[in-house]
Amino acid sequence: MIILDTKTDYKNHIDLLKSKGEIISLVPTMGNLHNGHLSLIKIAKKNSSKVITTIFINPLQFAKDEDFNSYPRTINQDIDKLKKNNCDILFIPKNKNEVFDNVDNLDHLKAGPKGEILCGKIRPGHFDGVLKVVYMLFYLTKPDLSVFGLKDFQQLYLIKQMVKKYFPKLKIISAPTIRDKNGLAFSSRNSYLNHKSINIAPLFYKILLDGINNLKNSKNVEKTIKDITKTLEKNSFLVNYVSFLTTELENFKPNSFEKKVLLSSVKLGQTSLIDNIEFI
Ligand code: PAF
Repeated sequence: MIILDTKTDYKNHIDLLKSKGEIISLVPTMGNLHNGHLSLIKIAKKNSSKVITTIFINPLQFAKDEDFNSYPRTINQDIDKLKKNNCDILFIPKNKNEVFDNVDNLDHLKAGPKGEILCGKIRPGHFDGVLKVVYMLFYLTKPDLSVFGLKDFQQLYLIKQMVKKYFPKLKIISAPTIRDKNGLAFSSRNSYLNHKSINIAPLFYKILLDGINNLKNSKNVEKTIKDITKTLEKNSFLVNYVSFLTTELENFKPNSFEKKVLLSSVKLGQTSLIDNIEFI
């Protein structure tokens, strides 16, 4: 695996790959790699001839009171995992100037109204920051395809919208959420869970699954949201939101046959967890 940390070396290497006609896939990450990330790399490998992973903890997507400084940094373990999973190139920008020349030039990249609901409501500006870094990584790499996890459903939706506008030839692959045996979705922030909360956290997914079954019987969205919220609170979760939407992140009418998704964000102690489940 080739490891590069400057934009110049990275761009030169990309040019070389392009001149050889390689099909390039990109898996952007913030590191602290887990089975979820590794599944994205496996999908990328199947669909391209060269897989590039980036590890960059993007300051623009963290608010001042968030965990940018304490975000888990596990670079040596990450490198081992990437080598074992046959990643071809790792780009770890050595500072933020290796990604962003001039952030002001990216002011046009706004997530818009669908970036201001759900997680965007509790993390104002978060998705603008995500779009800026993903845009720059696409701009530098010019990949043929890129893989993102469905666990970050709203992020994936907004990236797809941005790609339609600015990178119409780029294929975005949506990868299924990878869960531990107990149902808990893999996430880098799970490493913040303490001994007690690690046993409670898997209930999050179970309560959401029950909620979907209850909605199918009752057809009452408002009541189901209230019941899910109550059950989550009874089990020590602090609820940021529980929301039933179409997969286009819009409200749906009762009895509609559109593809839907239940999205939720909670806090367990100091740890934020998000999850979602698609259904008809
Ligand atoms: O999902 C993530 O890890 C990040 O939001 C991403 C897409 C790598 C951008 O920093």
